[in-house]
Amino acid sequence: MALIQVRDLVKEFNGQTVLSNINLDLREGDVRVLMGASGSGKSTLLRCLNRLVEPTSGSIIFRGNEVLDPKVDVRELRKQIGFVFQQFALYSHLTVLDNVSLGLRKLHKMGKAEAKERALLELSHFDMTAHQSKYPSQLSGGQKQRVAIARALAMDPAVLVLDEPTSALDPVMSRDVADLINRLHGEGITMICVTHDLNLARNIADTVMFLDRGVIRADDRIDVLSKHADPEIKAFFGAEGSL
Ligand SMILES: Nc1ncnc2c1ncn2[C@@H]1O[C@H](COP(=O)(O)OP(=O)(O)O)[C@@H](O)[C@H]1O
Ligand SMILES: [Mg+2]
Repeated sequence: MALIQVRDLVKEFNGQTVLSNINLDLREGDVRVLMGASGSGKSTLLRCLNRLVEPTSGSIIFRGNEVLDPKVDVRELRKQIGFVFQQFALYSHLTVLDNVSLGLRKLHKMGKAEAKERALLELSHFDMTAHQSKYPSQLSGGQKQRVAIARALAMDPAVLVLDEPTSALDPVMSRDVADLINRLHGEGITMICVTHDLNLARNIADTVMFLDRGVIRADDRIDVLSKHADPEIKAFFGAEGSL
């Protein structure tokens, strides 16, 4: 059974339909990529998964339970479904170590020493141990994204959700994030990633879902999408036309 099953998901903002009848399955260990023009609803779809956005209707089943049930403990849900945002969303007034340990203390209710130990372990996996006492402003973009990913993974989530993890990074650092995602995939971490970066998409997944004005119009290999019969889809993935 899928780890997450999205069924007939609809989101309207002020009467405007932003997501219409989205269906999507995320299986354990999957890395799924979602692409689409700005404003097509990608971030909204990701945010529905852990109820940062409340869907208008539909169903999201996570580990057999309905996420949209009003009785669901949203804090518990957000422990399970970790987020990494484009702009890293690190606390600028906290050190690297404190950024990673804060959630462990607040959500996992760990004591200071335990949270520190767990945070340092996670930072060591991302070669960030030497930077533990720095503040975010003292890090490069790639390092900030490593800390953001370490922070999300320290919570031990079932799924890692990445919203444009490379769009604030230069190509070399983007490659670094792609390598990181592949390493995590090898470790069995389930991920769903929104990106505008075709190189990243090609590096981390075999297929891409294409979201167009709130509708998933295609779910296929990039080389197939770049030759798609639908001219809009073909144009979107056209940079791959030479493949
Ligand atoms: N909180 C909100 N209130 C009203 N409209 C919103 C809100 N969040 C997103 N939207 C609208 O929903 C549409 C999809 O936005 P978004 O999911 O951010 O797209 P994407 O991530 O694909 O660029 C856009 O038209 C956006 O203006
Ligand atoms: Mg977005």
